[in-house]
Amino acid sequence: MNHAEPSLKASTHYLKDYQPPDFYVENVDLHFDLYAHETLVHAVLDIKKNPHNTAKDLILDGDELVLVQIALNGITLNTSQYQLNPKQLLILNAPARCRLSLTTRIFPQNNTSLMGLYQSSGNFCTQCEAEGFRRIMYFVDRPDNMARFTTTLSADKAHFPVLLSNGNLTAQGDAANGRHFATWQDPHPKPAYLFALVAGQLVFIEDHFVTCSGRRVLLRIYTQQHNIDKCAHAMASLKKAMRWDEEVYGREYDLDNYMIVAVDDFNMGAMENKGLNIFNSKFVLAKPETATDNDYQGIEGVIAHEYFHNWSGNRVTCRDWFQLSLKEGFTVFRDQEFSADMSARNIKRIHDVNVLRTHQFREDAGPMAHPVRPASYVEINNFYTLTVYNKGAEVIRMLHQLLGSPGFRRGADLYFSRHDGQAVTTDDFIKAMEDANPVNLSQFCLWYSQAGTPELHISRRYDAHKQHYLLTVQQTCPATPQQPHKEAFYIPVALALLDKNGKALPLQLQGEQPEAAVATNRVLVVKHRQEEFCFINIPHEPIPSLLRGFSAPVKLVMERSFEELSFLIAHDDDPFNRWDAAQQLHLRVILDLVQCIQQKRALKLDVDYIKTVANALNSDYPDPALSAEMLSLPAETYVAEFMLVIDPQAIHDAAHFIRQQLAGALRQQFLENYQRLKTHGPYQADPDSIAKRCLKNVCLGYLMELGEEPIETLCIQQYHAADNMTDTISALFFLVNSHCHHRDTALDQFYQRWQHDTLVVDKWLNLQACSGLPHTLEKVRALTQHPAFTLKNPNKVRSLIGGFCHYNQAQFHANDGSGYLFLADYVIQLDATNPQIAARLMTPFTAWKRYDTERKQLMKSQLERILQQKSLSTDVYEIATKSLE
Ligand code: TRP
Ligand code: ZN
Repeated sequence: MNHAEPSLKASTHYLKDYQPPDFYVENVDLHFDLYAHETLVHAVLDIKKNPHNTAKDLILDGDELVLVQIALNGITLNTSQYQLNPKQLLILNAPARCRLSLTTRIFPQNNTSLMGLYQSSGNFCTQCEAEGFRRIMYFVDRPDNMARFTTTLSADKAHFPVLLSNGNLTAQGDAANGRHFATWQDPHPKPAYLFALVAGQLVFIEDHFVTCSGRRVLLRIYTQQHNIDKCAHAMASLKKAMRWDEEVYGREYDLDNYMIVAVDDFNMGAMENKGLNIFNSKFVLAKPETATDNDYQGIEGVIAHEYFHNWSGNRVTCRDWFQLSLKEGFTVFRDQEFSADMSARNIKRIHDVNVLRTHQFREDAGPMAHPVRPASYVEINNFYTLTVYNKGAEVIRMLHQLLGSPGFRRGADLYFSRHDGQAVTTDDFIKAMEDANPVNLSQFCLWYSQAGTPELHISRRYDAHKQHYLLTVQQTCPATPQQPHKEAFYIPVALALLDKNGKALPLQLQGEQPEAAVATNRVLVVKHRQEEFCFINIPHEPIPSLLRGFSAPVKLVMERSFEELSFLIAHDDDPFNRWDAAQQLHLRVILDLVQCIQQKRALKLDVDYIKTVANALNSDYPDPALSAEMLSLPAETYVAEFMLVIDPQAIHDAAHFIRQQLAGALRQQFLENYQRLKTHGPYQADPDSIAKRCLKNVCLGYLMELGEEPIETLCIQQYHAADNMTDTISALFFLVNSHCHHRDTALDQFYQRWQHDTLVVDKWLNLQACSGLPHTLEKVRALTQHPAFTLKNPNKVRSLIGGFCHYNQAQFHANDGSGYLFLADYVIQLDATNPQIAARLMTPFTAWKRYDTERKQLMKSQLERILQQKSLSTDVYEIATKSLE
């Protein structure tokens, strides 16, 4: 039996149905007896009825629990006093106040979903967001139930010397049979999703932080022994984040200790459990030989993200999961700004926008499109999305720009003080911003409720006689599921008008009072479907620089000449728009070539295009990081967004052609830059060194397109001489994409050297999965049998299977459907063990309608095959069903 249509409806949760809980758990006393083959969890719950509710029965959530004992106010309940079903425990006619005592038996050693209590490398750890706590204990497992937690862990002392939970350690000691215990008390009431425990064989590095009010906080990062030499960067990042949140948001830390534990098996990046963050080891561990510049930056960002949640998420939390962006969008904005302050702001912005446009726009255009605040969901795990996180952050960014830093800070202060200790909504956040500033945000709020990426269609007219410059702006937004029509958004458009030397002109709108100093940089607000903006006293026809810094998460549609784009690339004083003009230019060239390929016409690269690209490499661009970004072609999945019918092979071939042609035409320049940018001295992860390494490796990447032996020798030399993983892995990646005869030796050698470092092995797998050489799927299939690979580890799955299916567009979409079969096989297999990972892997299938008839049919039949599986998870079921709708 497969799921029938009604079950999608039946299992949907709606925001409009929100009701507060009938009963609250106020205090929890937990006691974990951890054993090799089972864990017994005892809980004493202080329960209080919500006075506004009339429900008689106390309903607790539970999932895959064995109930061992149940007593109410000290008296064991008989089976007529409670009911059990697979998802709930009902206490019939519960009193308005009571103390419920429960014991459950769970089997963390068999928990492959990595939700609830599970084991990673033999150590115990938890993941409770969003609904994992119910896999540990019966509970009011929703974020608007905030409780005080006391947790005692007991385990074998030799195997599990470290016992951790949230808050402060209040007792510890030895017990019989070689066991020991520890008790932790968390003084801050919190939802169950922030609960955590860790028990295991771990070591730590320690440091401390003195807060702005002079309190000393003990900081510890725990890992397995063999990784202890890789924690310093995470610790330094944590201290920077703590200082930044004090300086920028006035937020001080609120416990005596802050602990981070790195585990190898983790479904996502990290988790902000109160006082005890648990991290995917990928976002903690780094040393120059094993981690790339990207890894270093990722660690800094994720460490900060989880730390910032202590206020935006923990002290003030979400009322319900529809409000997820309340904490995630805001916290992503905070971590993005932190990283921008720590490194190169403009480059950080380019990276963030690139992620949004490449991945979130795609999500917003597909069957899973949803508003930043979704109105409904089947499986909440499927809504930890780019829309909730990254578009949510863009919405906060627009607010920040609209209110200005001081106004935004006033609003944030009011939000934190007004709602401290509460579970609230995005409306509460907006209300605080409004109450602290003279604005009305009612139209702005459509960003929370309407899905889809708005499009801005802009046309311009210059009147030389009147010296008027007229911009006509139209906004539209495509239909998305359940939302055929949209109301007009509130869209801030930052702009400048440049004269032919690139100087920004004073901007005065018709009808405005002339001011003493007229701004050259302004933010127009588009509020209607169609609007006109008339600038006066414009002596010559200007070149507009629009949506500077990507001032709104929209698609800008405007006729642009080649000359104009080249001009902007050379002269725009907004580095973001320089880069964006380059992207538009690349995009245009790729799309033209795609047409040539499809029409079997000869391919040729325009000399002016080559010249423009060459300019991005010369000394006009003192910032090597910006040059590197300018020289990078848009992702193939981004290009696909601009095609009516996506032709993955043609996109791939076009991009490949460009890279080869540019490499040939600019060989000397690439070579000179490669030599010039070699860094000397020990590895450093500062923005300057990162920028140089980045451009250097971009140059090498182009050169390697030439297939020349001397270049291959350079690449091999870099591979062998490198003292850091950025240079090592870049060289190896280029070798793996070449026919160079050192290819296989280098790969083997790399594995031999790093086989004991699981995060480095991930890179080795990913590199091969992303190879552009033919027969990659066969290689990937073989690698699934390699001893280094396991389906149990999400990082391995993402590196190998995700790498191939999400990144290797041309081969994943092979005409014979082999890539689709491969993906569906793994989705089905993984669904039985880890539904969250299985569901995430499916993303490429959601876009099936965008392809040609044959591919459509092939993908559709794999989706149908997935749906026919017995006992599918809600995770995979929701995505497959919505995709086929
Ligand atoms: N709240 C976490 C963050 O954004 C991420 C998270 C949510 C998560 N659900 C999870 C992590 C499940 C692991 C597993 O920082
Ligand atoms: Zn988060």
